[in-house]
Amino acid sequence: MLASGGGSNFRNLHRHLQESGLKGQIVLLISDRSGSGAADDAEDNGIPVAVIPPKAYPTTANFGEALLSSLQAHSTDLVVLAGYLKKIPVNVVEKYANRILNIHPSLLPAFGGKGMYGLRVHQAVFNAGVHFSGATVHLVNNEYDAGPVLLQQAVNIRDCNSPEEIARRVLAEEHRLFPKALDIMLDHEISIEGSRVKIKENIQ
Ligand code: GRF
Repeated sequence: MLASGGGSNFRNLHRHLQESGLKGQIVLLISDRSGSGAADDAEDNGIPVAVIPPKAYPTTANFGEALLSSLQAHSTDLVVLAGYLKKIPVNVVEKYANRILNIHPSLLPAFGGKGMYGLRVHQAVFNAGVHFSGATVHLVNNEYDAGPVLLQQAVNIRDCNSPEEIARRVLAEEHRLFPKALDIMLDHEISIEGSRVKIKENIQ
C-alpha cells in the first residue's frame, strides 16, 4: 500500500484483511514522506515501512525504479494507493499494469485530475452545487484519476452545508467501497475492454 496522509483507508483495509481471514496481506507501506499517519500505524502493526520521497531522485524514472525495487523486494503483486498524492511513474504503471488501485473522493471523471485532492475536491463539488458526489475506485494508468473504473458509489449530499461535511460523508462511503474493491482484486480475474473493467470468474 502507498499512502501520504492520515491513513484512514489504510487502517480500514488492514482491519478488513484481518477480519476476512487474511486472504491478502499488506506486505509493505510506502510513503513519500516520513511521519504520515499511515506509516506510523503500519509500524505499530509490524508492517514494513519504506519512505521514498520523489525529490530524492534525479528523474521520475529513477523514482520509479526505487519504488519497483521496494515492491519487488516484498514480492508485491497488487499495489493499493490509499491517499497517495504523488503520480505513479510510467515504469511502475507498466510493471503493475492493471494491478494498481486508487481511490478518489468523487464520481470520476467529475472532479478529478491533477491538483484535485483532499478538500479541494469537496470544495469544487460544493461550489458546483451538485446533489450527488461519491467515491471511485479505479485502476491506475498514466493520467491522474483517469484509469478504468472498478467500483463507484454515489453519495447524496443535497443537505450538506460545507465541503467538510461532504468530505465526512464521502469518506464513510470510501470505507465501505475500498474493501469491496480489494476483495474483487483478490478473488477475481479482471480484464479491460475499452474503458470498461470486466470482472471474470472467481479464482479462489
Ligand atoms: C481519501 O479521501 C481518498 O479518496 C483520497 O485521499 C483521502 C485519503 O484519506 N485519495 P485517508 O488518508 O485514507 O484518511
